[in-house]
Formats: sequence, structure tokens, C-alpha cells
Amino acid sequence: MSGPDLVVVGAGLFGLTVARRCADDLGLHVLVVDRRHHVGGNAWSAPEPSTGIEVHRYGAHLFHTSNERVWEYVNRFTAFTRYEHRVWARHRGEMFPLPFSLATVNQFFRTALDPAQARALVAGQAAEVRGVPDNLEDKAVSLIGRPLYEAFVRGYTAKQWQTDPRELPPEVITRLPVRWTYDTRYFDDTYQGLPVDGYAAWFARMVDHPRIEVRLGTDFLDPAQPVSRASAVGQVPVVFTGPLDRYFDDVHGPLSWRTLDLEQEVLPVGDHQGTSVVNHVDLDVPWTRVLEFRHFHPERRYPDDATVIVRERSRWAGRDDEPYYPVNGTGDRERLLAYRALAREERGVLFGGRLGTYQYLDMHMAIGSALTAVDNVLAPRLVRSAAV
Ligand code: FDA
Repeated sequence: MSGPDLVVVGAGLFGLTVARRCADDLGLHVLVVDRRHHVGGNAWSAPEPSTGIEVHRYGAHLFHTSNERVWEYVNRFTAFTRYEHRVWARHRGEMFPLPFSLATVNQFFRTALDPAQARALVAGQAAEVRGVPDNLEDKAVSLIGRPLYEAFVRGYTAKQWQTDPRELPPEVITRLPVRWTYDTRYFDDTYQGLPVDGYAAWFARMVDHPRIEVRLGTDFLDPAQPVSRASAVGQVPVVFTGPLDRYFDDVHGPLSWRTLDLEQEVLPVGDHQGTSVVNHVDLDVPWTRVLEFRHFHPERRYPDDATVIVRERSRWAGRDDEPYYPVNGTGDRERLLAYRALAREERGVLFGGRLGTYQYLDMHMAIGSALTAVDNVLAPRLVRSAAV
């Protein structure tokens, strides 16, 4: 490729969607760079070598959407299995379905209430909080009552945030939905599933295009790289999906994130926990979740004498950790406004994706916002300047 029409920094789902649409629909030559050694960003997966079991390297990734346009778009590159995600919570030696449903409520209270009775029970328990809650605990109790909060939310939240929930702001929880039915699926989107031949195959198809070139192991913020902020910005349009604060050398201070420690283990058994995800909600268990990857693909033939599990622990991210969940504290919100102002002034650079906008995005949201960014921002600007 002689001189690209567009440089896309970051080969996650936002960057890949922008790159592919600009190549397909606008006829642009696109150079995609990523500092990692694979495409797909955090949604990437690879087989564990000794078992062949597909492991999501940056935490469990389940595809789900109700957005018809996104569903049509992703199906150009992969078919999806009919996997429906379900999560179980382990509390004091018992297993309960999550998110909260009539099944959880009736099992927890050892009753057989109908939906109206169960609603009335929980509403009565939630009524203990009067006025506007000023911490996470009161907010959660006002939504689901104290017994369910104490069992399923308190310990898990304390482990996730390394903070007592009474010290956390109420906004950390906006909703704690309860389904008043026995539908125990985790997502209620119209479409859900997993890529039939894995995430890596999906992403490889997205970049398999004569007008897309990919350069891996390339940190765009390192001026020693052949393609970098120093050499490219101002010369060629750039879509940047790396961390917003890092792009501006943290001038307003770093935005804070939580990260996950993912401890992987191959166990010499055919099945460890009988399901893909178990949340460990009690404080005396140090991890928050255990993932068992074979259960994401019950349709595949995996070994019957080995299984791969990952134990997840959550903590504040240090500078060299993977940023996973934006903290969005008061200081972060002020810093974010200051970075957004800088981003608006940065000519020829579009900031996108979860790191570039400092917000949690599910995969379908990253893809949807990339499709819209091409329609509304890139197509009007780039079609005129590129040799299509
Ligand atoms: P993403 O982070 O994927 O990609 C950004 C890329 O930019 C990375 O590859 C990075 O290496 C690169 N980059 C950064 N700085 C760079 C630099 N200076 N130079 C070059 N490259 C640079 N969603 C969902 O729908 N279902 C799910 O089950 C889950 N599960 C889930 C679990 C966990 C633990 C997390 C943290 C997130 C999820 N998600 C999810 C969300 C999903 O991961 C998210 O939607 C996508 O990663 C968003 O894609 P992006 O392209 O925005 O970022």
C-alpha cells in the first residue's frame, strides 16, 4: 500500500468495523495498527494449546444485540451458534440463577410465590430505605431489599471495587433488574450467540480485504515506530481507539480504570462446574467469578479428561495494567471533559471505541457506533479527499 488514505489505530471491533466499511464502501486504502500481536482487541480468543478449548483471553465475551443493523453486519463475517448465556451464583454452598428472577427469589426464600406475590415481598423489603440513597448499599437495598442485597450484592461489589459498598457512590448501580418470570437467560436481546468458528476467525475475515493492511506490534504513541502520532497526525486522517488520556500524554492526569487478574488453569477433569460462569458472591472467596470455557461451545468435541478454567479477580488498574472498566469517579468526569475539549481541537483525528471515549461499550455498541461514525463523520469528510 503506497500511502494509506486512513490510519486506524487499534484493531478492536470499533477499529475493524471502521476499517472494513471505509475499504468496502468508500474505496479507501486503510492501514490498521495495533500494539498487540493479534487483531480483535479485547474480544480476541485462541485455543488453549494442550486441550484445544477456545479461551477468551481478556475475559468472557458473549455476543448479544437487538440492533438489526449490527446483527446483519456481523453476520457478513461469521455465523453464530445458538448459545444462550446463563450465570449461576454460589452463595454459602448453594447455587442460584442470576440475574434476579422469580427462580432466584423463590429459591432464596424457600417459597413458591407467584409473580405478584414475589414483587410485593421484595417491594416491602426495599421500602426500608426512605429518602434519596447516598451510597451504593442504600441504593441497592432500595431496589431489591436487604436480604437479596446482603446475599448477592454486598460481598461481590466489595470484591469488585475493593471498597465497602457503603463508601461507594449510589450511581455505581443504576438498575438491579428482577425478572418476574422463570426466564433465567442472562441477556434478553433478540439475538445472541458465539461465533461458530471462534472470534479470531471472525476478525481475520474482517481484515481480509485488498485495501486493508494490518501492522501489529506497533504502538502509535511511540515516535520511534514508522507509523506514529508524530509522523501521521496532520498528514493523513486518523481514527484513534487507544486510551484518550494517553494520546494527550496524560496532561490532565490519568483517567481511572478497574482491571481483572485472570488466573488460567487446566484441570484434569471433563467438567469442573457444569456451566460456563459461576459468580462467587461471598467475601471469603477471593475471586469474583470462575469461567469454564468448554461450556461456551457445547456443540464442539472437546477432550473429556481436561477442562480450562479462569478465576477472575477485580482490582484498580495501575499504569501498566489492561484498562477494563472505567471507574467514572468525580475526578474522572472532570478530566474527561478536559480531554474531550482537547479531542475536539485535534484536527484530522476521530476518537472512538471504549478507550478513545472512556466508556464501557458492549461489542454490539462498539460496532454500532463505528457504523454510525463512518456514516456521519468519516464518509462526508473522506470521500471528497480520497482517490476512490
Ligand atoms: P478494544 O479494547 O477491543 O480495542 C482497542 C485496541 O486498541 C486494542 O487492541 C489495543 O491493543 C489497541 N491500542 C490501544 N492503544 C494503542 C496504541 N497506542 N497503539 C496501537 N494500538 C493501541 N462485550 C460484549 O458484547 N459481551 C461480553 O460478554 C463482553 N465481555 C467483556 C468482558 C470484559 C472483561 C471486558 C473488559 C469487556 C467485555 N465486553 C463485552 C466489551 C468488549 O470487550 C468491547 O465492546 C470491545 O472491546 C470494544 O472494542 P474497541 O475496539 O472499542 O476496544
